[in-house]
Amino acid sequence: MTLRVIAIDGPAASGKSSTAAAVARRLGWAHLDSGALYRAITLAALDNVGEQGAGSGEQWSAVRIVALAEELPVRLVLVDEVFRPEVAGVDVEQAIRSERVTHRVSGLAAIPEVRHWVNVRQREAVLGHPGGVVVDGRDIGTVVFPDAPLKVFLTASPEERARRRLAQAGEGAAGQIDPERLRRETEALAARDRADATRRVAPLRAAADAVRLDTTRLSLDDQVGRVVALARQRFPG
Ligand code: CDP
Repeated sequence: MTLRVIAIDGPAASGKSSTAAAVARRLGWAHLDSGALYRAITLAALDNVGEQGAGSGEQWSAVRIVALAEELPVRLVLVDEVFRPEVAGVDVEQAIRSERVTHRVSGLAAIPEVRHWVNVRQREAVLGHPGGVVVDGRDIGTVVFPDAPLKVFLTASPEERARRRLAQAGEGAAGQIDPERLRRETEALAARDRADATRRVAPLRAAADAVRLDTTRLSLDDQVGRVVALARQRFPG
């Protein structure tokens, strides 16, 4: 039986999650944002292990963090076809977007034991949802679901991605973004991309059989339309 999963990967703020969410809605599939799970574990670690020693991957205790994720627990809950992150029974979809979490998440995502734990959760979610799941992240097509019948790798120029991220945060509506703020955000994204692309385990890269889509000049509607068209070809009926 064909695995009903669509893998959407790409660098920070390339539009993966918005695209994956809209594609899932149009196909009537569920949406799983794997980054949300990495962010939820980061939030749990910051709140329970503390800021100390949270500087880089090596300084976090892998065993302690995975045990914490099991105990609290950190998990995904399916609500209206969207897998939402929860920590100790509380929905953390908003809390995980804070600067504090964003700043630490790549360090935590570099820990092999954490990645393994997240990957098991993702596979359980997909196997338990035979209707189909659109999963977005960094290593979905390469590591988590290498057999996905459709893999998409989204890119966009760093500046465009920074602009989108600031707009998403409610800053600089209608093109009024402060140039200095834009420069800093572009740098922060580039630093996270470097960390994600150069780490030893499951680095950010496109699978050999992924469809690459540069979205710098595409609207969200256009990019969603393209992925939906590919999905209808790969998953007929
Ligand atoms: O902010 P953005 O949407 O670009 O990132 P995200 O999808 O929320 O992911 C946050 C961080 O989690 C990334 O910078 C990666 O370090 C990590 N991540 C990962 O390593 N593998 C994934 N499949 C998803 C996220």
